[in-house]
Amino acid sequence: MKIDKDIHIASTLDGTFYNSAEKLEESKSKLFERSWQVIGEEDLVKVPQAAYPFEFMDGFITEPLLLTRDKEDNLHCMSNVCTHRGNILVNNPCILSGGISCSYHGRRFGTDGCFKAMPETDGMKDFPSERDNLEKHL
Ligand code: FES
Repeated sequence: MKIDKDIHIASTLDGTFYNSAEKLEESKSKLFERSWQVIGEEDLVKVPQAAYPFEFMDGFITEPLLLTRDKEDNLHCMSNVCTHRGNILVNNPCILSGGISCSYHGRRFGTDGCFKAMPETDGMKDFPSERDNLEKHL
């Protein structure tokens, strides 16, 4: 690929660029993961503890995401995938009055994505750790 700021020297991208799965993945990480993206109107999560699960651009980014508004009125965008065994945490828009609770083994998170608790884990070594929090995107 020959890219040059001088249009007189630059050439058109080869057609294979537009059909390359590798270039698509590269573009996702270089363009979309590093820049602000529009999710929707702020009223998707109108009130404190509201949650809105979504997929960015209908599956273009394959990680299920969750938009929330916490009790202090702060917005958060995070992974909607449990950090234990990958269960989807929230399936429909709702009010999370008790925070986020995984229906599989009961792991709980705050509406900011921070790990709170999990049944039967008292005394476990190095638990919880940072990797038990939901991955945050906002
Ligand atoms: S998959 Fe969520 S607690 Fe196990």
